[in-house]
Amino acid sequence: MPFAGEGATSTSYLRIAGGIAAAAAAAVAMRARRPVVGGNWKCNPDSMSQLDGLIKNIQACDTSKCDVYVCPSPIHVAYCSDKFSNGADVTPQNCNFTGCGAYTGEMSVEQMKDLGMNQVLIGHSERRGEFGIFPMDDNTTLATKLKYILDAGMKCVFCIGEPKEIREKGLDAVLAEMDVQLKQIYSLLDADKVVIAYEPVWAIGTGLTASPEDAQATHKGIRELISKNASAAVADAIRIQYGGSANAANAADLSAQPDIDGFLVGGASLKPEFKDIVAAISAAK
Ligand code: PGA
Repeated sequence: MPFAGEGATSTSYLRIAGGIAAAAAAAVAMRARRPVVGGNWKCNPDSMSQLDGLIKNIQACDTSKCDVYVCPSPIHVAYCSDKFSNGADVTPQNCNFTGCGAYTGEMSVEQMKDLGMNQVLIGHSERRGEFGIFPMDDNTTLATKLKYILDAGMKCVFCIGEPKEIREKGLDAVLAEMDVQLKQIYSLLDADKVVIAYEPVWAIGTGLTASPEDAQATHKGIRELISKNASAAVADAIRIQYGGSANAANAADLSAQPDIDGFLVGGASLKPEFKDIVAAISAAK
């Protein structure tokens, strides 16, 4: 026999629990992913005299609805570090996993923090071996670097992407490769601190952009991998940028895809059209 009043108590309990569940669902729905666009200047420009012009392109971006960052070449990072009043984050293109000391040719997150920076990009395909005589990073060094970066209290843009031979085998092969590139970092993913930049290697600097449908399918697949191997909450909140010949002309169509949360822009980040890419995704989301 139920105690007197128990029915009423459990009814109120259910009502309260239902209310909490609805509020939690609303909070999740409201937590739309804020777009994020980065400009990767790579090893450009060839003269300091051009830097102020490039800085102006970034400074011209309306950042009210979109996070913006810029990756100057290592030698120009310090010059750029205090030049943005629109909130653009200066984000170096690499870091080590050992800090300061006897590491010739390296730069540390401690030095970046000292210059007021709070974010660093790692894993670009050009450092994974797309040029030069050997890969400067692999999935293991990158996982070590990501842990070091997060432990130091910095944020990270982590690049992944497949070469053309894998894309030609189809989406399943691409996602299998994305799983390989993400395997060692699933447990480190934190949507507030890590942005994933998906950059198909065959699209970088070639003028060949992934079609919006192909890019969407790949982003969705990456999100599903993260959901399965990290958590649904991380997958839902983490931002995944598209990179590879993104420009002002194709940004609107790509931005319309639900799993594309931003862009990592190479060539077009050296041009005034960069602000139009930021505007396109700000309008779409
Ligand atoms: P791209 O470069 O826009 O020139 O293709 C993108 C990147 O490598 O980050």
